[in-house]
Amino acid sequence: MSSTEPASHTPTPHTPAPEGRSSNGPAPHSIPLDGPVRIGLIGGGNIARAHLRGYAALGTRARVTAIADTDAETLAIRTAETGATGYTDFLELIASAEVDAVDICLPHHLHHRAIVAAAEAGKHILCEKPLCLTAEEGRSVREAVRRAGVTLMCAHNKLFLPAVAKAKELVDSGALGTIHGVRTTDEFFNDFDPATMGWRADAATSGGGEYIDTGYHPTYLMMHLMGARPAAVFAMLSTHRLTFMDGEDSAQVLVRFENGSVGQLATSWAHPKAPGTERFSVVGEKGSLSSDGTTLRVSLRESEAEHVYQYKPLDPFVAEIADFVDCLTTGRRPLHTEAEGIDVLSIILAAYRSARSGALETIEMI
Ligand SMILES: NC(=O)c1ccc[n+]([C@@H]2O[C@H](COP(=O)([O-])OP(=O)(O)OC[C@H]3O[C@@H](n4cnc5c(N)ncnc54)[C@H](O)[C@@H]3O)[C@@H](O)[C@H]2O)c1
Repeated sequence: MSSTEPASHTPTPHTPAPEGRSSNGPAPHSIPLDGPVRIGLIGGGNIARAHLRGYAALGTRARVTAIADTDAETLAIRTAETGATGYTDFLELIASAEVDAVDICLPHHLHHRAIVAAAEAGKHILCEKPLCLTAEEGRSVREAVRRAGVTLMCAHNKLFLPAVAKAKELVDSGALGTIHGVRTTDEFFNDFDPATMGWRADAATSGGGEYIDTGYHPTYLMMHLMGARPAAVFAMLSTHRLTFMDGEDSAQVLVRFENGSVGQLATSWAHPKAPGTERFSVVGEKGSLSSDGTTLRVSLRESEAEHVYQYKPLDPFVAEIADFVDCLTTGRRPLHTEAEGIDVLSIILAAYRSARSGALETIEMI
């Protein structure tokens, strides 16, 4: 059996968080904004181009009114493209009255400072991964966002793939029964060299290596599909090829969840994934599913036929930006706020501890 699904979709909310944490529904203090939402883009480099595609696709619903970048050439290009006001100091952009929300596309070590400053100024926040780099920064982000009552959305773009949304819907509907395991992969050949790698080569600015960078994606995806709290982690990190980096270029990680199920992930900049390797798969009591990101195959024990959902390629960044603006104009809670961003960070920090100790490490939720 096979069906072609439209590329656009309404994201499936995540499983409700336990007591004391944020839950679904409108963020407690999020007052819907009238459009157009005025965006201040902080960091105009590589990924900013994908975010700008998203704002451009929204027509009059959002406008990039300000851009901050310390690199004069980048700032000149981005302000010319958008007509936005340019700033070299992102704190001045945050203080500007022409901005309702900031979109943080900075190197990792600057995320915490920009988030806290934006929250204190009452600005809503979209932040690229990773949310921040340490447990202390995570607690400080949570506190700042709660105190200000602003909305923070983590830019977890893979959640906006229709195959992921459908998989989440199937898992949450109980179609697969009790979930036994989730497997996620994000591996590609990264042609970085010492001259082009920049801040990512240095653990002080990246926070580690490949795992806290690209590896953030398969980690939040695993958590999202599992819908349970992570409990313990065992990690093996490797440097196969990018030996000039401070951190690892590859990671293999096992996560035990509180409900007894197990997550397994492989992520790398050293090599592309082997042919046939799934982007994600879920196995459960009643059946399983597997996807390469655009095709979703579902197999249930009660029926012989495999159901295949085929999706048209979609730009997940455009969908992510549209969802951010929608959250701000409706007061709806984003799929992943700082709560989920901090949980992902908890797994990653415990994985780094495990790689150092060579032992299974308990995940201390931040
Ligand atoms: N979701 C994804 O698939 C994806 C892909 C790539 C990057 N990212 C994330 O996006 C973020 C940025 O990565 P990138 O690849 O665009 O990096 P980049 O180096 O290309 O861009 C960063 C920009 O920030 C500017 N900058 C540095 N310090 C600054 C400061 N103090 N004030 C203002 N601007 C400053 C730099 O000049 C640069 O233009 C990171 O968090 C990264 O992990 C996400």
